[in-house]
Amino acid sequence: MVSRVHKNVAPRQGLPASPANIIFRLINPSLLMVPADRVIVALDVPTVDRAIALLDQVPQAAFWKVGLELFVSAGATILTELKMRQKRIFLDLKFHDIPNTVAGACHAAATYGVDLITLHGAAGKTALQAAQTAAIAGAASAGYAAPKLLAITLLTSLSQRDLAFDLKIPLELPEYVLHMAMLAQESGLAGVVCSPQEATQLRQVCGHDFVLVCPGVRPSWSTAQDQQRVMTPAAAIRAGATYLVIGRPITAAAQPADAFQRICDEIAGVP
Ligand code: C5P
Repeated sequence: MVSRVHKNVAPRQGLPASPANIIFRLINPSLLMVPADRVIVALDVPTVDRAIALLDQVPQAAFWKVGLELFVSAGATILTELKMRQKRIFLDLKFHDIPNTVAGACHAAATYGVDLITLHGAAGKTALQAAQTAAIAGAASAGYAAPKLLAITLLTSLSQRDLAFDLKIPLELPEYVLHMAMLAQESGLAGVVCSPQEATQLRQVCGHDFVLVCPGVRPSWSTAQDQQRVMTPAAAIRAGATYLVIGRPITAAAQPADAFQRICDEIAGVP
């Protein structure tokens, strides 16, 4: 277990220390969320038309993930479409560049009113802090609430071997992930994207208001496909996930709306 040096943790931006906010921090914010708010559906399709078809197939899904494929092909049109439909947006473009460039990208993304933005923790503390400041400013300039920034700790496609031999990082993988999560938190970010396997420890160390977004989730009635280490929705929520990112078990189901509802039913009531 890696010990936590709380005095080094920067105060979270966007939550001034008013009495109401102090009380809010004592409450586990996940307890205030309904199941449908916690399932982010991955819009892993190459065109806006196919994305809209999916939105229409699962009208009750409130939160959608736009990743690299769709954004590179459709651009910001897809963000505008989602906002018009009053959907929440997880913009998963995993920014990784020098502080000025990362900050510019986060500023621009925030002007679309997205809710969650990803960037690589390996961009470094200066970049993470600059991104956070820029996102707040970008959102404010367009009249939106500030998005939450999430760090990528380590891509889940990388193994212990990749870490040691290719990246020359001399830490065990869980220790590296924890270190990067703490760096993100100390830089003022709201949370991280992580495997559900990592959620228990990250939740324990980073506290209950740190946002954990977990892909690699598979209901027992679906197949794992190319996901290597999977957890069921209920197990991932129990492990500490704030949000689940789920694609194919919903989008490739014969009845996507039913699949979404089954997942919501499964996590309803899980503490
Ligand atoms: O279809 P599936 O449920 O596997 O989709 C998971 C989504 O989460 C995909 O959009 C994938 O790119 C994303 N993701 C992931 N693993 C990560 C980070 C993101 O599967 N470590």
